[in-house]
Amino acid sequence: MKKICVGIIGFGTVGSGLAQALYEQKERIKQRMGAEVVLTHIADISATSLPEQFSDVILTKDANDLFTNPDIDIVVELIGGMEPAKTFLLKAIANGKHVITANKALLSVHGKEIFEAAVKQNVEVGFEASVGGGIPVIKALKEGLVANRINSIKGIMNGTGNYILTQMTDHGTPFAEVLKTAQELGYAEADPTYDVEGIDTAHKLAILMSIAYGLNVNLDHITTEGISNIEPVDINIAREFGYRIKLLAISNNHGDHVEARVHPTMVPENHMLATVNGAFNAIHFNGDTVTDVMLYGPGAGMRPTGSAVAADVVDIGRNILAGAVNRVPALSYQPEFMKEPKITPMGELSCPFYFRITALDQPGVLSDIAGIFAKHNISIKSVVQKGRGQKEPVYIVFRTHVALEADVIAAIAEIDALETCTAPTIKIRVLSENE
Ligand code: HSE
Repeated sequence: MKKICVGIIGFGTVGSGLAQALYEQKERIKQRMGAEVVLTHIADISATSLPEQFSDVILTKDANDLFTNPDIDIVVELIGGMEPAKTFLLKAIANGKHVITANKALLSVHGKEIFEAAVKQNVEVGFEASVGGGIPVIKALKEGLVANRINSIKGIMNGTGNYILTQMTDHGTPFAEVLKTAQELGYAEADPTYDVEGIDTAHKLAILMSIAYGLNVNLDHITTEGISNIEPVDINIAREFGYRIKLLAISNNHGDHVEARVHPTMVPENHMLATVNGAFNAIHFNGDTVTDVMLYGPGAGMRPTGSAVAADVVDIGRNILAGAVNRVPALSYQPEFMKEPKITPMGELSCPFYFRITALDQPGVLSDIAGIFAKHNISIKSVVQKGRGQKEPVYIVFRTHVALEADVIAAIAEIDALETCTAPTIKIRVLSENE
């Protein structure tokens, strides 16, 4: 029987998940693929031994052993970060190896260079696990939705962030405590600020936008705000109003320009995205032919991510066996049709807003704030004061009708400059029910 030989660089959470999936599913994969996947090498700088089931696998500290080994067909980079991950991938490609990576940070910054190098060498780049953990979202977008103009992408793409918001919403657990549990469960990035500040979600949105629109979208194109400013009071007020706060990636396709943003969002509680809880992810596409599609599943963790990387191994293995390498281009579009994006300026966006203003509880404060909103053409839908301060400031919460982001930025700058406003205003964009 034919063999597809694989070497893994990095035996951490995802590397172990892949090795275990290939081990547990060996027979099933053989039957589905018509060949055996053989894990021959694992390169890891700190592992000193491998679990018993991998006793045939060669453990090395030097990733170069994989690039130069003539038997290895596919090199899987699972160390994360920029360097040496980028050098490893480019070296593997230069040596004619197909590569797989789960490294969304790297792809969202250097993807163009890596994909171009792979095209030159006629090797494949698999990156299913870079977005949505175990959800086969890359394959669905590249292949299943190929006959669509993608009109919009919206999603919850960070398991850690969603787990934190869910625990805060359901149990009122403090932020730091939930983050610690997410780290223990293997959801969080090495640097968890990537999770909570929306950067990991932005990495993933850049990758999906590139495939969806045939545009070279990178991290710099995405406006990113995280969830670290969200307080239990925001979550509770949102709930009183019938909303859940979610960290959303949003891109609407306006044809000659596209939105690219990640921020906490108040989602109506009857919206499908509001029901996605814990470390689960969901990605919603609107396509002109299919209409609405939402993919839902485990967005992080060892086994789901291992499942996604193993699917790339089989995909590439099948193409090798069929003599059909790069049958599907890495970003779905043929490389010569990829274009540079024009991103919608944030100031041009319009949506309803939620503001939490911290102000002294004294005469005239509300009318000053309301006057500033009126001056900037922002129409108030409702206002609630939380608490009655003596000397302590209170929260005044406003909800607005649809307002222009540029007007909102100008109004908040004026409000925050008032002597009676004692902390920066928290702004959360509100998703409409029909979005
Ligand atoms: N840290 C990521 C998350 C892992 O929490 O979603 C999966 O990309």
